[in-house]
Amino acid sequence: MSAVSPGPLPVGSLSPAPPFPSPARLTVESLDQHYGGAQVLRGVSLAIEPGRCLALLGRNGAGKTTLLRCLTGLIPESRGRIRLDGADITGLRPDARARAGIAYVPQGREIFADLTVAENLKVAARAHGLARTEAVDEAVALFPALRDLWSRPGGNLSGGQQQQLAIARALATRPRLLLLDEPTEGIQPSIVSAIAAVIAGLNGRITVLLVEQYLDFAVRLADAFVVLGRGSVVEQGMRDTLDPEALSRHIVV
Ligand SMILES: Nc1ncnc2c1ncn2[C@@H]1O[C@H](COP(=O)(O)OP(=O)(O)OP(=O)(O)O)[C@@H](O)[C@H]1O
Ligand SMILES: [Mg+2]
Repeated sequence: MSAVSPGPLPVGSLSPAPPFPSPARLTVESLDQHYGGAQVLRGVSLAIEPGRCLALLGRNGAGKTTLLRCLTGLIPESRGRIRLDGADITGLRPDARARAGIAYVPQGREIFADLTVAENLKVAARAHGLARTEAVDEAVALFPALRDLWSRPGGNLSGGQQQQLAIARALATRPRLLLLDEPTEGIQPSIVSAIAAVIAGLNGRITVLLVEQYLDFAVRLADAFVVLGRGSVVEQGMRDTLDPEALSRHIVV
């Protein structure tokens, strides 16, 4: 992540006491998943060291969202193990995984359209039993644009504003592992830069699993890559050892 300048954003504002919880190590071992009779994930294994960012790449339908939904517990694993800091969380319900520190920003964002920006953030922090103002303030400091939208219903925001809100909402739960599903999809370039700066600023503080089809964005932010092809890992490695052209061959539709 060092290649990305955090720019003028207040990335240091996550540090005030109480300290941000320590980032988690994620380990996925031989994960299979089926929708009915159709196998979607096939023996997927990966690991992310605490505080690092791993980019999960792959073409449409490769199984990226399915893998994230398995990690959150929203859909069951058919086989394999998921560990957080070595503790087996396979089979745990989504609420238990959220309490263990997993936060999820889904593809399409899924913010609460009828709640205001403020309410979207406070609901998330409160669900985690956190001091609402502090956890919310920390998250909003990363996306100052949300301050000006404070009382607007989430449904009235632009796609880029909603994406910032969705990420801020996840951060307001003070996660140890952040799952981001295509945060740049359909977003204007200025907001893509703001999001990149925030993710870069999480380096070392929160473990990040970033699903992305925008290769430049992923290459700027990720320490390591895994490419899925038809539900299997077809390529993986560290940023310094992987050829971007080889990566792009796997994700160009
Ligand atoms: N709820 C579902 N029921 C049945 N099949 C599904 C369901 N959701 C996804 N699939 C299928 O599972 C496969 C993987 O889908 P998934 O959404 O995980 O892919 P993806 O890599 O996230 O794709 P995209 O880049 O388009 O977001 C696809 O063939 C898809 O059609
Ligand atoms: Mg997807």
